[in-house]
Amino acid sequence: MEKNYLSTAVIFSFLMVRASGFCGVHQTLDVVILYDVSSSMSSTDIADQVSFIHNLAGNIYLHSDHTNIAGIGVGNTAHYGWGLRDYLTTDDLMARMQNITVTSEASDISPGFDMAWNNILSNSTRPGSTRWVLVFTDTSFMSSTTSLDAIKAAGIKVGFISVLSATSYTSYASDSRYILGGINWATLDSDLPTVISMICPPYCESFDFYYELPNSMAVIADTNSNVGYYLISESKGPSAYNIHCCGALSSVEFKAATSGSFVLQVWRAEYLIYQTTITATGGYETHVFSPKVAIAMSDIIGWYSAGVNPIGMATSCVGDLCPQDIKIVTDMGSLSVGDFYDWSSASTMPDTAFAIKFTIVNGLISLMTSLPVTGVETPYFLTMSVMDSCFNTASIAINITTFVQPLAINNLPTEVEIGDDVSFETLLIVINATDPAADSISCILSSILPNTTNFRLDDYLNGTAGMFLNAGAALDFKTVEEYKISITCTGMSSTESFMTVRILDKSVTTPYTVPAWAAGAIVVSVGSVGVVLAMVCFLIVVILATTDEAEVMPPMEEDENDKTPLDDVAQMCKIIDRWESEQEGVGEI
Ligand SMILES: *[C@@H]1O[C@H](CO)[C@@H](O)[C@H](O)[C@H]1NC(C)=O
Ligand SMILES: *[C@@H]1O[C@H](CO)[C@@H](O)[C@H](O)[C@H]1NC(C)=O
Ligand SMILES: *[C@@H]1O[C@H](CO)[C@@H](O)[C@H](O)[C@H]1NC(C)=O
Ligand SMILES: *[C@@H]1O[C@H](CO)[C@@H](O)[C@H](O)[C@H]1NC(C)=O
Ligand SMILES: *[C@@H]1O[C@H](CO)[C@@H](O)[C@H](O)[C@H]1NC(C)=O
Ligand SMILES: *[C@@H]1O[C@H](CO)[C@@H](O)[C@H](O)[C@H]1NC(C)=O
Repeated sequence: MEKNYLSTAVIFSFLMVRASGFCGVHQTLDVVILYDVSSSMSSTDIADQVSFIHNLAGNIYLHSDHTNIAGIGVGNTAHYGWGLRDYLTTDDLMARMQNITVTSEASDISPGFDMAWNNILSNSTRPGSTRWVLVFTDTSFMSSTTSLDAIKAAGIKVGFISVLSATSYTSYASDSRYILGGINWATLDSDLPTVISMICPPYCESFDFYYELPNSMAVIADTNSNVGYYLISESKGPSAYNIHCCGALSSVEFKAATSGSFVLQVWRAEYLIYQTTITATGGYETHVFSPKVAIAMSDIIGWYSAGVNPIGMATSCVGDLCPQDIKIVTDMGSLSVGDFYDWSSASTMPDTAFAIKFTIVNGLISLMTSLPVTGVETPYFLTMSVMDSCFNTASIAINITTFVQPLAINNLPTEVEIGDDVSFETLLIVINATDPAADSISCILSSILPNTTNFRLDDYLNGTAGMFLNAGAALDFKTVEEYKISITCTGMSSTESFMTVRILDKSVTTPYTVPAWAAGAIVVSVGSVGVVLAMVCFLIVVILATTDEAEVMPPMEEDENDKTPLDDVAQMCKIIDRWESEQEGVGEI
């Protein structure tokens, strides 16, 4: 008996499915298999299931860190076979499956799902694993779907392999791609590639390719320079670098034993289809590809280093995944995308692994160019044919209309307060207008209500426009309490906004506080901070001048500074200093 299954195992181990096989190397798979032990099965049917499960386990890489498989026999009750971590080699699993026998039970899949959910899936899968229930059956009868529904709701994938037609399971499977109907138990092994491609999708969902995690790998420094490496898939057995799916290269992680740079390369057979230079400063590093790099199934990653290869290596690795076939050339020279390189004559490096890991995710299709700025509303009617890295094509029609982002005056409307005793030239605000569609913007003072010659819009620094109170202005709170000044700016488009100038009665006593508009002006003013300070200082002057103490001072209207245009903070604040000292002097008298 024992001899028998071992020889069977040897024979079946040659039934490897190359293209998408061993995808369990690149993901953590927790699979619960429900095998049929109802009375409708013959003992040969049971043996066919057993050999299939054994082959499947080998091809999706049964391993403690990779694929774990549990088994439950199902008639119209469930028979616990083994748990996810009970058998971690295909030989052990095959030995365990030898005593699976037919029962005299009728067929009902429900108890199998109950046991799969309650005893295994709900509490003993690994964090981050991709979880599956794979059902081998010759019935579609389910007395209850409670556990099936819970399993699907938990994001666990459910697939069926059955002698009945696929349509019998449409509402049970988590995806119609996960149903293989109309099988014959005797020829089940020929369906192995189909079942593998259910579990190992042709699109990379998010798979990592590495021998050992680079950050925890013990490495030595390479001594080769002008060297190229080519991470070919192993010619036999599981391979860390078998790119079994298509998608997009999103990142590469590596541990550099020395600093230096290398050119990461993507090969399609022996043609270079992509390369980029990555600088390694030493130690564990991650390079993120932006945009991501399209990868087809069976592409090969490699790299070229003109100087000493910085990526750390281990030269006597052991275990199933220890690479035997990585290719090396020590006189490679730099290449261009599109170049052919004959890797067939390159030598291989047995028992050698590098501290490198790459992540391939689902591919994306993106439009890479931005549309031109036309300054007018412009429609585009695009019909695109797109092809992804899996060579699937699709056509799509997209209508895009570009519109002009309008001109904006960013710091109006606003309100400015000014004492009615001010009659020297004063900057009130610098207009901040933006128009992305225009090279230049011009602003005019379009109206003042009530009409007056006290204000003007004039050039300020660096081509900006400022609103000024004119020298010799005659303001009087009793006549006009506020002016509403409209300003129109024109770039590619035109817009009007306004500011309100509120006139303060100089005879009113107001304790000094920094007015809200001055604080606001710090935020909105275009001018230098100096301009804003000038306004604040100016207010201090005005308000001090209107306090009771100031009333007893010599008439300030006679001060020569009143007649001098003021355009900088220093002057403004000089006045305050002087006024303050004069006030203090008055106070002391
Ligand atoms: C089959 O054999 C295993 C040990 O190899 C044992 O634990 C299990 O109970 C047996 N199952 C049946 C149904 O006899
Ligand atoms: C999961 O739950 C079942 C049923 O409650 C229990 O028998 C089993 O020991 C649990 N497994 C783990 C790993 O906690
Ligand atoms: C795009 O514009 C064309 C022409 O106006 C129109 O026939 C078509 O329906 C539009 N397509 C979409 C998706 O709006
Ligand atoms: C405002 O006054 C100026 C100068 O006196 C004059 O030229 C202009 O026409 C007046 N505007 C309006 C709208 O009355
Ligand atoms: C004016 O522009 C020049 C050069 O762009 C710049 O150095 C200077 O700081 C600007 N002045 C102000 C007040 O923004
Ligand atoms: C003008 O306003 C815009 C929008 O609020 C702002 O981003 C920009 O910094 C302002 N410019 C200046 C010089 O303050």
